[in-house]
Amino acid sequence: MILDYNNMLAERIGEKGIPLSALKTLAPAIEKANKSMKDKRPQMAWRDLPYNQSEIVKEIKTYASEMKDQIDAFVVLGIGGSALGPLAVQQALNHPYYNELPREKRGNFPKLYVADNIDPERLVYLFETIDPTRCLFNVISKSGSTSETMSQFMIIKELLEEKLGKEKARKHIVCTTDPVSGNLITIAKEEGYKTFYVPSPVGGRFSELTSVGLLPAAFCGIDIEGMLEGAAQMDTMCQEDDISKNPAYMYAALHYLGMTTGKNISVLMPYADGVKLIADWYAQLWAESLGKKYDLAGNIVNVGQTPVRALGATDQHSQVQLYAEGPYDKIVVFIGVEEYRKTITIPKTYSHMPSLGFLGGVTHNNLLQTQQSATEYALTKAGRMNMTITIPKITTQTIGQLIYFFEMATAYAGELLGIDAFDQPGVEEGKNATYAMFDRPGYEVKKAELEAAPAKDEQYII
Ligand code: PA5
Repeated sequence: MILDYNNMLAERIGEKGIPLSALKTLAPAIEKANKSMKDKRPQMAWRDLPYNQSEIVKEIKTYASEMKDQIDAFVVLGIGGSALGPLAVQQALNHPYYNELPREKRGNFPKLYVADNIDPERLVYLFETIDPTRCLFNVISKSGSTSETMSQFMIIKELLEEKLGKEKARKHIVCTTDPVSGNLITIAKEEGYKTFYVPSPVGGRFSELTSVGLLPAAFCGIDIEGMLEGAAQMDTMCQEDDISKNPAYMYAALHYLGMTTGKNISVLMPYADGVKLIADWYAQLWAESLGKKYDLAGNIVNVGQTPVRALGATDQHSQVQLYAEGPYDKIVVFIGVEEYRKTITIPKTYSHMPSLGFLGGVTHNNLLQTQQSATEYALTKAGRMNMTITIPKITTQTIGQLIYFFEMATAYAGELLGIDAFDQPGVEEGKNATYAMFDRPGYEVKKAELEAAPAKDEQYII
């Protein structure tokens, strides 16, 4: 994987770019962040995941090979960090129409569904699509208390027990959760579900390389060891203190400097459909980790950058107009691939028509890569900060690299911003209000607060 940040620099894109001198001025902050990344490594347990999971990988592979022939579909029940990673990896590493393929073309692996949202239509339609008695449901919740996931679990458990009886139903549920705390581990132990663990110090959005991501991937035939190998390679690349040799640190430092001049939006725009959902996964990682009210000293800072997911070339026909001519508030990051896994050539059908003839004989591979370069050129010419991550090809290793790269960049950006990148206090208020509205015991004070809130004024409702 390489990171090309030429087009972030004022020396190339003009006054709207980051002058090299700003990177020099940042040296003391970089030194401090480097030290923190070292000092805090023991608390960042997600950084050990590429190295300490050989037993877990063995267990996952054994379980997947025992179970896969007994089921038609593997269904993930999870949300946020417990769903975005499995979705991204599946899309990157398997056939884009995986579920539609006949079983033998899926390497005899089951279909994969991820039921993250609780839109009732979605779950009911899923039940119209699958036979639950031929599925394995993977309840993934680090905290074991997320209402969305636990409610789905309750619905499915009841359904399975009605159809199969308690004993047989049990075999259709596998849990992934914290080994010690939360409702799910209690339930799993009491009811005897097969369980995999998310190590306690690993937070939800940093958990893709735990059983959260590895188990669903293994059930779709993905080489999970390859992903971990890729993550380890990136970890090695990210050991450098010199940020000009450390892609994750440089990515974070440039975004940090961008934020100081009003670049409040981080666009991730892969030019490969396989990486599209990596941008969704990144959006949660970047937003939830860096969007913070307080710094570590307790000062109100209200920092963060809004992530936007885009896809090349699709979004050239949707968002690029805004990126090129709208406010100077974005950093656009392209992800390109040197070699697509397939090739398709455009026939020379209309060689007599110059406006179409130039396409004849060109591959879509070349067309898409050229469009990426052309968009990069256009944004650069318009003085818009952009940079490019290039991977040689989408493989288990490069996807593992990308995941680990973005995690490192996020953690480092958190250090530069002086915030805690690993908590999410801002989502608690909404959760607590939901509990209060449902009269959950212990939320009486919150309920009273909600009831005391001023009612909406009818005159502003049309
Ligand atoms: O990063 C986080 O911790 C969150 O976004 C979680 O991933 C999300 O809320 C789901 O939590 P859980 O896995 O505990 O159900």
